[in-house]
Amino acid sequence: MSSHRPVRVAVIGAGPAGIYASDILSRADLDVSIDLIERLPAPFGLVRYGVAPDHPRIKQIITALHKVLERGDIRLICNVDYGVDLKLEDVRRHYDAVVFATGAIKDADLPIPGIELDGSYGAADFVSWYDGHPDVPRTWPLTAREVAVIGAGNVALDVARVLAKHAEDLRPTEVPENVYQGLAASPVTDVHVFARRGPAQAKFSSLELRELGHVPDVDVIVYPEDFEFDEGSNAAIRSSNQTKQVVKTLTDWTLKDPEELTASRRLHLHFLHAPAEVLGEDGKVVGLRTERTVLTGDGTVTGTGQFHDWPVQAVYRAVGYFGSPLVDVPFDDQGGVIANREGRVLDVDGAPVPGVYTTGWIKRGPVGLIGHTKSDAKETIEHLVADAGTLPAATEPDPEAVLDFLRARGARPIHWSGWELLDAYERTLGEAEGRERVKVVPREDMIRVALELAEED
Ligand SMILES: Cc1cc2nc3c(=O)[nH]c(=O)nc-3n(C[C@H](O)[C@H](O)[C@H](O)COP(=O)(O)OP(=O)(O)OC[C@H]3O[C@@H](n4cnc5c(N)ncnc54)[C@H](O)[C@@H]3O)c2cc1C
Ligand SMILES: NC(=O)c1ccc[n+]([C@@H]2O[C@H](COP(=O)([O-])OP(=O)(O)OC[C@H]3O[C@@H](n4cnc5c(N)ncnc54)[C@H](OP(=O)(O)O)[C@@H]3O)[C@@H](O)[C@H]2O)c1
Repeated sequence: MSSHRPVRVAVIGAGPAGIYASDILSRADLDVSIDLIERLPAPFGLVRYGVAPDHPRIKQIITALHKVLERGDIRLICNVDYGVDLKLEDVRRHYDAVVFATGAIKDADLPIPGIELDGSYGAADFVSWYDGHPDVPRTWPLTAREVAVIGAGNVALDVARVLAKHAEDLRPTEVPENVYQGLAASPVTDVHVFARRGPAQAKFSSLELRELGHVPDVDVIVYPEDFEFDEGSNAAIRSSNQTKQVVKTLTDWTLKDPEELTASRRLHLHFLHAPAEVLGEDGKVVGLRTERTVLTGDGTVTGTGQFHDWPVQAVYRAVGYFGSPLVDVPFDDQGGVIANREGRVLDVDGAPVPGVYTTGWIKRGPVGLIGHTKSDAKETIEHLVADAGTLPAATEPDPEAVLDFLRARGARPIHWSGWELLDAYERTLGEAEGRERVKVVPREDMIRVALELAEED
């Protein structure tokens, strides 16, 4: 590769993983020129389209990510979809290396009978709806009075809380108008969360759990018969402060006086109930059948053969996300990740594919907090920098050439200046209502604001 020009790197996906990877690379001891390519008209991935609207403190991470991108040394190219607007051979022509940081947006499967019934939903789809993702339908069927949420992770808690909360309590947040209207019409009274293991095996974090206790006019109800602790549970409580806090909060709730339970909505947390079947009539959900489980000693569970039917009219599975394969990129179908070793992408023989890297959820699977994507990015970028001398050289490295190619393809790239316009526009919409921001949801409206408003002025 010519030593007279910077190493050209494309980072695909402008979620936290892609932004941290770009930032770390830009500070490395290497002359680089970075393009950060994102399929949506807006950056920030799941921080914008996953973190719940009533978690403004976490949404503030966007401020730190914003600071990285506003420096200007990383060129943001939004509204460009890898696999649609450009393929691996196009990327290779324009860049010496590529880092895939495409995250995950889909639900993992839950293979139980009835899961395909009308009224059975994936949590990820619901999250995309309530966070105003541009590529999902604008309406969501919220007609159930009683709802089941399967899973005991933070996504299950987000979904249960958003379902149970009165819409007016979400009003001050950035919740989109169509979502507010949908939630305001919901007749829900009871949301049941089902964990297949015990309280000490719950995956949710203590802060998120305690937050449930402060939701106005929603009572949290737990059931003392669900409180079982085996040796594995005791070891987990001893070794993790997080688990200790979660178990303490849950145990305190078992002591509630039933007379205290006066709210008009209830959020029930059930443990040791594994989902067995979604029950239906005329193609619609009418219940959830769970099997009672017992702990086996090491924190795992086994079924008891005792089943319980819960009358619910909607079921949400929050059993984890699952990554999607990318055109021409080796994929591990079992793990739902790009095949890789420490971020170096591997071919079918297990050999590194020169110049191709990955980071974030699509590298290691859909678990972990935003902060974890930073250490992850560090590992990947260290390898890229170590390989710098042997990268396959781009044949058209001029930064303008890739934009000419994309425009010729009919793509409409949105740069940082376009995002600044959209950001300012959303804040102005919010100001009028005393809110920090009101999100623009339809893709075509986002594009119009980012690309055309400047021209109209
Ligand atoms: C519902 C939910 C709530 C969460 N809440 C919190 C929280 O409160 N606190 C916390 O610390 N963590 C939270 N997390 C975890 C956090 O969101 C993840 O750790 C983090 O977002 C993973 O970063 P990522 O960049 O790998 O993926 P993502 O954030 O998913 O970013 C991937 C980006 O790649 C883009 N992309 C995908 N495919 C393509 C393509 N073909 N071409 C171009 N671009 C593409 C996507 O549009 C997206 O912008 C939450 C996760 C979920 C699911
Ligand atoms: N506020 C926040 O900080 C926040 C908010 C949302 C998400 N996140 C993070 O994002 C990541 C993803 O969260 P997540 O909730 O999607 O995943 P998660 O933490 O892995 O939780 C998944 C849950 O689904 C259960 N599950 C999986 N398969 C099941 C099955 N077949 N039947 C019944 N239950 C099943 C798991 O139970 P087992 O444990 O028994 O397998 C677990 O309780 C996590 O790291 C999370 O902390 C953070």
